Amino acid sequence: MEIVISSSMDELNLKGAEYFEKLLAAKPDAVLGLATGSTPIGIYNELIMKYRAGRIDFSRAKAVNLDEYIGLSPDDSQSYANFMQQKLFSQINIQPGNCYIPNGTADDIDAECQRYDRVIASLGGIDIQLLGIGHDGHIGFNEPGHSFEKQTHSIELTKETIAANARFFESMEKVPKRAITMGIKAIMNAKSVLLVAFGADKCDIVYRALTGPITPSVPGSILQLHPNLTVLLDDSAGAKLR
Ligand code: PGA
Repeated sequence: MEIVISSSMDELNLKGAEYFEKLLAAKPDAVLGLATGSTPIGIYNELIMKYRAGRIDFSRAKAVNLDEYIGLSPDDSQSYANFMQQKLFSQINIQPGNCYIPNGTADDIDAECQRYDRVIASLGGIDIQLLGIGHDGHIGFNEPGHSFEKQTHSIELTKETIAANARFFESMEKVPKRAITMGIKAIMNAKSVLLVAFGADKCDIVYRALTGPITPSVPGSILQLHPNLTVLLDDSAGAKLR
């Protein structure tokens, strides 16, 4: 595990983007595991700037996203499909047909979860997986539980997650309560994992995930077992690890 702690968000976002730049230079058709939320936005902005500067070509890249809310269609402004479109895909030269995200409006959610695992397998797995971490330790929407759920699955979001997501919705009632998430297996099978966390509110959970017992009650703790994990933290999120 490599941990980088810096007071400069610019430096961390640039460093994050450089992993993607190097990977795509070596493997233009790499499979990029992408994440939503506030944390990756700075890295996405760096990727857009590198694309505009002619330093990254996404034309053969594949993108697989971690999760999607159940009940929101891709054109809903709060869906993660829409988030990815706005924050990254529409601003780079990735092919729309190469961007994969679970379908939160599928009639049969279980079948959709199985289909998503087949998609990931058919791409040959993930080369780099970008992750944020929730205050409850979730990665993707793998929420705390009694076991690590390996496959893509649907999940009831925890109260903590619903409260954290409420900032993007008009009212609490409109915050989705369920989601589809990639499971622990696809994340742990990624050739490299880039975990990013910013802010004092992430300090405790980052410390527990990276130094505490490996337990499904802190899903991110499984990353301690990943052979190629890089962690990017600002000073506040990394305060307990200094
Ligand atoms: P955030 O979410 O980036 O908006 O803090 C991270 C997560 O819940 O995984």
